[in-house]
Amino acid sequence: MQSITTQLWHINSSSSQEGDIQQSASLHEAAVMLREGKLVAFPTETVYGLGADARSTQAVQGIFEAKGRPSDNPLIVHIGRTSQLDELVLPYSGLASRLMAAFWPGPLTMVLPMREGSVSPLVTAGLSTVAVRIPDHPVALQLLELAGCPVAAPSANLSGRPSPTKAEHVLDDLRGRLHGVVDGGATGVGVESTVIELVDERTVRILRPGGVTSEQLAMIAQHVLLDDSHGSEIHPQEVQQHAAAAGATATGAAAEAPRSPGMKYTHYAPQGMMEVVLGSPEQTVLYIRSKAAQAQASGYKTGILAFNEHAAGYEADLIIEAGSLERLEEAAHLLYDALREFDKQGIQMIWAEGCEPEGIGMALMNRMLKAAGNRVQLV
Ligand code: TXA
Ligand code: MG
Repeated sequence: MQSITTQLWHINSSSSQEGDIQQSASLHEAAVMLREGKLVAFPTETVYGLGADARSTQAVQGIFEAKGRPSDNPLIVHIGRTSQLDELVLPYSGLASRLMAAFWPGPLTMVLPMREGSVSPLVTAGLSTVAVRIPDHPVALQLLELAGCPVAAPSANLSGRPSPTKAEHVLDDLRGRLHGVVDGGATGVGVESTVIELVDERTVRILRPGGVTSEQLAMIAQHVLLDDSHGSEIHPQEVQQHAAAAGATATGAAAEAPRSPGMKYTHYAPQGMMEVVLGSPEQTVLYIRSKAAQAQASGYKTGILAFNEHAAGYEADLIIEAGSLERLEEAAHLLYDALREFDKQGIQMIWAEGCEPEGIGMALMNRMLKAAGNRVQLV
């Protein structure tokens, strides 16, 4: 691939008036690039997105090339306001409206029947549905407003790598492969949006757990189902059932094609071997301590992702504190940065403390298990 000059703009949301003028000029430049069919990465409340005009096949083709993304994995379309929705999707149900009212702008992506011809067929990988969301980030919203077009944006990482939660992650992966990066600082949620489809007027199905929790969805929809066709994916709740296979790799491909095609690919994987450990705090600490000591004695560089409450009990080459067990939002915010840090420091064996799949813990465990290639140890 030919190298492109990558422009970088810094946006500081708490800046002086003078700074504001400079920043709105930067966002204008970025928006013009999007309208010209170029690739621009920008922050959202979840992770950084790699944006392109969703209507332009050539622009969207560029996303797949830059990321090395399989072409059968469709993209999320980002809009700045609900009035842009009618151009993209067919008339939707009352439940869809209520979900939008409750969670937009925010980390909820809704898969809806597409209005034919509204976006490039590459965006939807040929499906008759399109995934849409309004991100809850001032920089993203301003950029989308200025661009005026629907913006297709997957996470701005090389395919298979952890999603980017800082502009430097985007540059580490994609410098020279995209036209611009809007640096708006670290993202907040840290894991991607929840992807849902509507089953009927009372029921939603979670295709990918994320920033909006199933408990939150259940306040609007009567029934919340979990997609059970994630290929090699194990849902945290199913970990007990998979105890026999724990420590092994996958449970085997599901017979049914995954509803959210992206879920079948290996994701977020650090270069080192990673294992998620689930059990009582005492047993977890004992297990990880002994495994890390063994590995160190054999000459491996070891890493541990531990909750603050336990971190002092470990010895390893790199111990990353994931935040408090009492506030799993902190671990979600930190996870991808931690995975990248293990790589940077050449860590060969990583143990990560698991958590209950409740609230944001469901998305957190989903991403941890994926990063670990489903290697999980029950203690
Ligand atoms: O938080 C996020 O969602 C971030 C930020 C940038 O918005 N974006 C993101 O995009 O995570 P990506 O491309 O990494 O993940 C999109 C997910 C994939 O699992 C994909 O298969 C699914 O959404 N998806 C997209 N269109 C779909 C469709 N029509 N039907 C089912 N699943 C779809
Ligand atoms: Mg992604």
